[in-house]
Amino acid sequence: MLMDIKQLAPNRSWCPISFVLALARVFSLCGIFVLSANAMALDPLRATDKEIPHLLGLGDPNDFLPFESRPTKQSVELGRFLFFDKRLSGDGTIACSSCHLPSRAFTDGNVVSTGIKGLRGHRNAPTVVNRLYGRSFFWDGRAHTLPEQTREPFLSPVEHGLSQRDLLSMIRSIPGYRRLFREAFGSHVTEDGIATALTHFQWTILSGNSPVDRFDYHGDATALPAAAQRGFLVFRGKGGCVRCHAGPNYTDEQYHNLGVGWESTHVDLGRYSVTRQPEDIGAFKTPTLREVARTAPYMHDGRFKTLREVVNFYNHGGVNNPHQNPMMRPLFLSDDERADLEAFLNNLSGEGWQQAVSPRVFPE
Ligand code: HEC
Ligand code: HEC
Repeated sequence: MLMDIKQLAPNRSWCPISFVLALARVFSLCGIFVLSANAMALDPLRATDKEIPHLLGLGDPNDFLPFESRPTKQSVELGRFLFFDKRLSGDGTIACSSCHLPSRAFTDGNVVSTGIKGLRGHRNAPTVVNRLYGRSFFWDGRAHTLPEQTREPFLSPVEHGLSQRDLLSMIRSIPGYRRLFREAFGSHVTEDGIATALTHFQWTILSGNSPVDRFDYHGDATALPAAAQRGFLVFRGKGGCVRCHAGPNYTDEQYHNLGVGWESTHVDLGRYSVTRQPEDIGAFKTPTLREVARTAPYMHDGRFKTLREVVNFYNHGGVNNPHQNPMMRPLFLSDDERADLEAFLNNLSGEGWQQAVSPRVFPE
């Protein structure tokens, strides 16, 4: 199973999934006439309260939505309630949004996250923007799909700290939620329904149309400060950053050992704990860099407070260790080049997530 994922992930030139997606796309175009009523519900951009603006720089969301799980206005709205509802935790203090705050591009600003009763996890909370484009989830990629990922935090003893039974009975005891499940899925409250609603909501949290996109795709030189334009060249050239932070979402969706944490005595084994392959020791998923100006602190253990520290880390070639990715070498960037690179990273903030705010009232 893991092998399959690996084979599918790296290259989309001949990949059964893209082939099926491409077919699905052709059908969905013809389907506009055939499906008429249904077709309206297929557009995720219509699924939210307000229209999401055109997101320059990202792939067409429709190409990424699985055919069998299309967001609707009702399922997205239900997911939004579940995402922000603190009642759904062991001590009534934690919601998904406690660690994925809209104001911090859906991260929490802490080195590692704190869940119920002040308990701390051991990894930094990643952003949830553009998860529609993600191909695996968590720093070590242990979840293959977003619905699968979404089940874990509720049950984690250091996050929401619930049992599956408690979670279900908690939601079932609220008449407003029972109505919302009927409206969204025509069913009572189920585990699948919870995972699907949270997934649909998160699929609408996007980030595109940044100053870098406007410069890159429209050639608009006024959109991006000169320093950031020079930084873009360093990112693609001397810095070699695009070798891993590649494509529209600035990630190759692969795992690499940069040496983060190797100077300490307790090393997080990362991807290795999923695959048990020696080459995956200390390897972590390349994160998206979209919104990176707002997601400090950085890396899987949140060790760097600023982008300057991150850039310096790369400039030194990371931390040497027996499993380090060979691409990690000292870069010999000048002070100006490092400042330019930082300016570039600071211009990857965009739009497409601003509508995803907390509801003012929750189901009763
Ligand atoms: C106590 C803090 C906390 C809470 C509560 C929490 N998360 Fe997270 N979230 C994290 C941390 C930390 C990680 C990274 C864990 C890892 O990789 O092992 C993470 C990872 C994720 C990811 C993976 C992102 C990626 O790109 O790999 C998603 C999606 C996500 N959380 C969504 C949710 C949802 C939905 C909820 C509510 C059901 C939730 N989180 C609740 C802290 C939290
Ligand atoms: C060999 C692949 C690779 C290369 C080359 C690379 N990165 Fe990364 N990047 C990663 C991985 C993997 C992580 C997460 C590592 C971890 O936490 O252990 C990461 C993390 C980051 C982060 C932190 C993001 C966050 O949300 O915590 C930033 C910023 C970043 N890289 C920028 C850069 C820049 C700038 C360059 C070029 C100088 C670069 N990267 C080159 C793979 C790479």
